[in-house]
Amino acid sequence: MPHIINLPKIEDERGNLTFIEEENHIPFKIKRVYWIYDVPGGQKRGGHAFKEQQEFIVALSGSFDVVIDDGKQKQTFPLNRSYYGLYIPNGLWREMNNFSTNSLALVLSSTEFSEDDYIRDYAAFLKYVQQ
Ligand code: TYD
Repeated sequence: MPHIINLPKIEDERGNLTFIEEENHIPFKIKRVYWIYDVPGGQKRGGHAFKEQQEFIVALSGSFDVVIDDGKQKQTFPLNRSYYGLYIPNGLWREMNNFSTNSLALVLSSTEFSEDDYIRDYAAFLKYVQQ
Protein backbone atom coordinates (compact mmCIF):
# COMPACT_ATOMS: atom_id res chain seq x y z
CA MET A 1 0.00 0.00 0.00
CA PRO A 2 1.21 3.55 -0.64
CA HIS A 3 1.91 5.31 2.63
CA ILE A 4 3.57 8.32 4.21
CA ILE A 5 6.93 7.65 5.85
CA ASN A 6 8.22 10.09 8.44
CA LEU A 7 11.94 10.80 8.24
CA PRO A 8 14.37 11.78 10.98
CA LYS A 9 14.28 15.52 11.71
CA ILE A 10 17.24 17.00 13.54
CA GLU A 11 15.96 20.29 14.88
CA ASP A 12 18.54 22.95 15.48
CA GLU A 13 18.45 26.70 16.01
CA ARG A 14 20.80 26.87 12.98
CA GLY A 15 18.14 25.15 10.86
CA ASN A 16 16.69 21.66 10.53
CA LEU A 17 18.24 18.60 8.91
CA THR A 18 16.61 15.46 7.49
CA PHE A 19 18.21 12.41 5.90
CA ILE A 20 17.27 9.16 4.19
CA GLU A 21 19.13 5.84 4.28
CA GLU A 22 18.24 3.14 1.78
CA GLU A 23 16.62 0.02 3.24
CA ASN A 24 16.48 1.79 6.62
CA HIS A 25 13.95 4.61 6.18
CA ILE A 26 12.63 3.44 2.83
CA PRO A 27 12.04 -0.22 1.88
CA PHE A 28 14.22 -0.46 -1.23
CA LYS A 29 17.73 0.11 -2.52
CA ILE A 30 18.08 3.48 -4.24
CA LYS A 31 19.14 3.04 -7.87
CA ARG A 32 18.25 6.52 -9.13
CA VAL A 33 17.41 9.99 -7.86
CA TYR A 34 15.62 12.62 -9.89
CA TRP A 35 13.80 15.84 -9.16
CA ILE A 36 10.97 17.80 -10.71
CA TYR A 37 11.10 21.58 -10.61
CA ASP A 38 10.02 24.74 -12.49
CA VAL A 39 6.55 23.25 -12.94
CA PRO A 40 4.30 25.93 -14.51
CA GLY A 41 1.04 26.65 -12.67
CA GLY A 42 -1.76 24.21 -13.46
CA GLN A 43 0.51 21.55 -14.95
CA LYS A 44 0.30 17.84 -14.07
CA ARG A 45 3.08 15.25 -13.98
CA GLY A 46 2.93 11.48 -13.95
CA GLY A 47 -0.08 9.92 -15.57
CA HIS A 48 1.42 6.45 -15.69
CA ALA A 49 2.23 3.33 -13.65
CA PHE A 50 5.40 1.31 -13.25
CA LYS A 51 5.54 -2.47 -13.47
CA GLU A 52 8.63 -2.83 -11.25
CA GLN A 53 9.75 0.58 -10.07
CA GLN A 54 9.04 1.60 -6.48
CA GLU A 55 9.39 5.25 -5.54
CA PHE A 56 9.65 7.56 -2.60
CA ILE A 57 8.64 11.19 -3.17
CA VAL A 58 9.46 14.15 -0.92
CA ALA A 59 8.35 17.76 -1.32
CA LEU A 60 11.75 19.33 -0.60
CA SER A 61 10.21 22.75 -1.18
CA GLY A 62 6.67 24.03 -1.69
CA SER A 63 3.75 21.64 -2.06
CA PHE A 64 1.94 19.36 -4.49
CA ASP A 65 -0.52 16.46 -4.40
CA VAL A 66 0.17 12.88 -5.45
CA VAL A 67 -2.94 10.98 -6.56
CA ILE A 68 -2.58 7.20 -6.40
CA ASP A 69 -5.00 4.96 -8.27
CA ASP A 70 -5.03 1.17 -7.88
CA GLY A 71 -7.58 0.72 -10.66
CA LYS A 72 -10.50 0.75 -8.20
CA GLN A 73 -9.93 3.69 -5.87
CA LYS A 74 -8.02 6.95 -5.90
CA GLN A 75 -6.21 8.33 -2.88
CA THR A 76 -4.70 11.83 -2.69
CA PHE A 77 -1.58 12.48 -0.63
CA PRO A 78 -0.75 16.17 -0.14
CA LEU A 79 3.01 16.61 0.28
CA ASN A 80 4.22 19.88 1.79
CA ARG A 81 7.01 19.19 4.30
CA SER A 82 10.57 18.01 3.71
CA TYR A 83 10.65 15.62 6.71
CA TYR A 84 8.25 13.04 5.30
CA GLY A 85 7.51 11.47 1.97
CA LEU A 86 5.23 9.11 0.11
CA TYR A 87 6.27 5.52 -0.57
CA ILE A 88 4.65 4.20 -3.76
CA PRO A 89 4.89 0.45 -4.46
CA ASN A 90 5.01 -0.72 -8.05
CA GLY A 91 1.84 -1.40 -10.03
CA LEU A 92 -0.09 1.79 -9.17
CA TRP A 93 -1.21 4.65 -11.42
CA ARG A 94 0.00 8.02 -10.20
CA GLU A 95 -0.47 11.66 -11.03
CA MET A 96 1.11 14.74 -9.45
CA ASN A 97 -0.79 18.03 -9.51
CA ASN A 98 -1.47 21.26 -7.58
CA PHE A 99 2.19 22.27 -7.69
CA SER A 100 2.88 25.47 -5.77
CA THR A 101 5.24 28.10 -7.16
CA ASN A 102 8.88 27.06 -6.72
CA SER A 103 7.97 23.55 -5.57
CA LEU A 104 10.68 20.92 -5.73
CA ALA A 105 9.84 17.20 -5.79
CA LEU A 106 12.64 14.78 -4.93
CA VAL A 107 12.04 11.24 -6.22
CA LEU A 108 14.05 8.20 -5.13
CA SER A 109 13.62 5.20 -7.38
CA SER A 110 14.32 1.49 -6.92
CA THR A 111 15.33 1.04 -10.57
CA GLU A 112 17.38 2.68 -13.25
CA PHE A 113 15.38 4.47 -15.93
CA SER A 114 13.62 2.12 -18.33
CA GLU A 115 10.82 3.25 -20.64
CA ASP A 116 9.78 -0.45 -20.86
CA ASP A 117 8.77 -0.32 -17.19
CA TYR A 118 6.13 2.37 -17.85
CA ILE A 119 2.44 1.75 -18.46
CA ARG A 120 1.34 5.04 -20.01
CA ASP A 121 -2.09 4.02 -21.26
CA TYR A 122 -4.84 3.98 -18.60
CA ALA A 123 -6.87 1.24 -20.32
CA ALA A 124 -3.71 -0.91 -20.50
CA PHE A 125 -3.15 -0.23 -16.78
CA LEU A 126 -6.67 -1.42 -15.90
CA LYS A 127 -6.04 -4.60 -17.90
CA TYR A 128 -2.67 -5.04 -16.16
CA VAL A 129 -4.15 -4.82 -12.62
CA GLN A 130 -6.94 -7.26 -13.50
CA GLN A 131 -4.38 -9.91 -14.46
P1 TYD B 1 8.17 10.96 -16.97
O1 TYD B 1 8.55 9.88 -16.01
O2 TYD B 1 7.09 10.66 -17.96
O3 TYD B 1 7.82 12.29 -16.17
P2 TYD B 1 6.65 12.54 -15.09
O4 TYD B 1 6.18 11.23 -14.58
O5 TYD B 1 7.30 13.38 -14.04
O6 TYD B 1 5.58 13.31 -15.78
O7 TYD B 1 9.50 11.41 -17.74
C1 TYD B 1 9.51 12.51 -18.62
C2 TYD B 1 10.59 12.26 -19.66
O8 TYD B 1 11.86 12.19 -19.04
C3 TYD B 1 10.40 10.95 -20.42
O9 TYD B 1 10.73 11.18 -21.78
C4 TYD B 1 11.41 10.02 -19.82
C5 TYD B 1 12.51 10.95 -19.34
N1 TYD B 1 13.18 10.46 -18.12
C6 TYD B 1 14.49 10.01 -18.19
O10 TYD B 1 15.12 10.00 -19.26
N2 TYD B 1 15.09 9.57 -17.04
C7 TYD B 1 14.46 9.57 -15.84
O11 TYD B 1 15.05 9.16 -14.81
C8 TYD B 1 13.10 10.02 -15.79
C9 TYD B 1 12.33 10.02 -14.50
C10 TYD B 1 12.50 10.46 -16.94
